[in-house]
Amino acid sequence: MKKFSVHPEICECATIKEFVESFQLNEDDLMLINKFTYHDFMQDLALPCQCIFYEDYTQGEPSDAVVTHMLQDIKDKKMKRVIGIGGGSVLDTAKLLCIKDAVSADDIYEDKIPFIRDKGLILIPTTCGTGCEMTCVSVIDRPKHNAKMGKRIECNFADHAVEIPELLSKIPHSVFAFSAIDALVHSMEIYVNPLSGTYNKVFCVEAIRLLIKNFKFVAENGPESKFDVMDEFLLASSYAGIALSNDICGAVHACAMQFGGQHHVSHGEANYRFLVPVFSVYADLNPKGREINALAGIIQRQMGIETDLAGTFVALDEMLNKITPRKKLREYGVDGERLMDYVTKVYATQQRLLIANYVKMTEKEFVEIYRRAY
Ligand SMILES: [Fe+2]
Repeated sequence: MKKFSVHPEICECATIKEFVESFQLNEDDLMLINKFTYHDFMQDLALPCQCIFYEDYTQGEPSDAVVTHMLQDIKDKKMKRVIGIGGGSVLDTAKLLCIKDAVSADDIYEDKIPFIRDKGLILIPTTCGTGCEMTCVSVIDRPKHNAKMGKRIECNFADHAVEIPELLSKIPHSVFAFSAIDALVHSMEIYVNPLSGTYNKVFCVEAIRLLIKNFKFVAENGPESKFDVMDEFLLASSYAGIALSNDICGAVHACAMQFGGQHHVSHGEANYRFLVPVFSVYADLNPKGREINALAGIIQRQMGIETDLAGTFVALDEMLNKITPRKKLREYGVDGERLMDYVTKVYATQQRLLIANYVKMTEKEFVEIYRRAY
């Protein structure tokens, strides 16, 4: 049975001040936030809530050790709500702080305790791509598995996802580019996922349409022009996040999670490296496929081009290269003689995602994906 639902109540606030007043922040709230976001947007507001800063635990993406450290630090705090404000790392971590009696990452990722959320949860994105505010999944780095791993925890859908465009008004270009490309990957992968529901495809189509349209705008008008259309990038990210909360991504995310974990590459950046290689292999394996041709049609219309299926993904690659330069896996230190080792690890750690591939693929086809990305 296929199902579709939107879990968090979605709220739109023009400014962070409007959010603080509307949600009546108080001393029973614990906010997890980046220092730079706090200093840029909240320093003058005299927030009445408790705050912990993500950078006090790590400069990178969350890991087992980071989550455990944070859980230990907050276990004696009196709090009724957790408010996560940030990119995917902060939002995914904030979800994990809400689980009753969790004191370590292993408690959660090795199913050592029942999952009960005993605090309210509000998630506010400061990037335009991860869609983490809409989902109940938390991805963390698990060094003992040499990979990033995601876990779906049904009680961890936020009560409220709050969209505040003001928080994206100073986003660095690389953060914008990689997070927006992540949103494009979500919507493209879920659109062609054979297990995806019909209702979900509506959100994928609109996300793809908005993202391609606005990537084209930024590619033609320069990096600063993104601020003119940031509201549409944020909206597209939310649509893709709604899709992600209902269905899973496939081979792009599977490859990226393993590669990103092994080479310490951020989630969006890793996804970008595999997006076109995966879809070009899909196009080769199933050139008459209904969904992939419909997807190519959407991309062609928004880009204003006429080409064939393979040409569509070449054109997409060239446009994204103008947003942020493409980079090959070899530039990250991947050994071209050992691509099968990566594929073996993808199969060992990412089975959760591999069921959602558009075309059934063997390890040989995954090696071809790595070869094209290499
Ligand atoms: Fe993603």
